[in-house]
Amino acid sequence: MRVGILGTGDVGQTLGAGFAKLGHDVMMGSRDAANPKVREWAKKSGAHASAGTFADAAKFGEVVVLATLWSGTENALRLAGPDNLAGKVLIDATNPLDFSQGMPPRLAVGHTDSGGESVQRWAPRARVVKAFNTVGNAHMIDPQFPGGPPTMFIGGNDADAKKLVTQVSEAWGWEVADLGGIEASRYLEPMCMAWVIYGIRNGSWNHAFKLLRK
Ligand SMILES: NC(=O)c1ccc[n+]([C@@H]2O[C@H](COP(=O)([O-])OP(=O)(O)OC[C@H]3O[C@@H](n4cnc5c(N)ncnc54)[C@H](OP(=O)(O)O)[C@@H]3O)[C@@H](O)[C@H]2O)c1
Repeated sequence: MRVGILGTGDVGQTLGAGFAKLGHDVMMGSRDAANPKVREWAKKSGAHASAGTFADAAKFGEVVVLATLWSGTENALRLAGPDNLAGKVLIDATNPLDFSQGMPPRLAVGHTDSGGESVQRWAPRARVVKAFNTVGNAHMIDPQFPGGPPTMFIGGNDADAKKLVTQVSEAWGWEVADLGGIEASRYLEPMCMAWVIYGIRNGSWNHAFKLLRK
């Protein structure tokens, strides 16, 4: 499968490497195709990895990951080109964080709308699945916790897209809980804040959510 990554930060690099490790061809996109961060990532990620612009990566991917700073996300999608994302699975790992008042950040949107729903409006023909927003990048691939596999909570409007994201998440060592449509982002994005605030209060970032069932 061909995977496009929109975002050159820790999340883009981690998920990009995770897809390459599964044997997929991955192109990482940036505002600037010559971005040294992307070139370096492509070099160290092996023969399956390449670099380009946001539009190049969106065109390349059958599946595309969105991992951009919230304040730049609408612009990144505009640069990627909504037509290049039409019909594609778009994994939205962003969180709508507003850092303008300092730490901890606030959610820039919520209750009756969400980042995930905004992304779906900005890329209306993409099959957006909110996922990978409730854990730090260090534990996204092959998470190792004494309590067993943590739970990746997801939401999106397209059942086949969620099936694909479930398969990929399971291949990376997660179990998956599907919370329904993309409006589930209204609950998944505050979950990110619970994860962040627990980390700040405890000075540790080695935690993940798990849904216990019986
Ligand atoms: N860090 C984590 O562990 C973690 C975990 C879960 C979810 N998240 C969420 O995942 C997303 C990515 O986080 P991150 O820490 O990997 O990276 P980040 O530093 O939040 O974002 C980096 C990316 O944002 C792009 N960007 C910044 N301003 C832009 C603008 N004005 N227009 C277009 N693009 C712009 C950058 O483009 P260039 O490449 O061109 O510079 C870069 O690709 C965030 O929404 C974050 O909240 C993060």
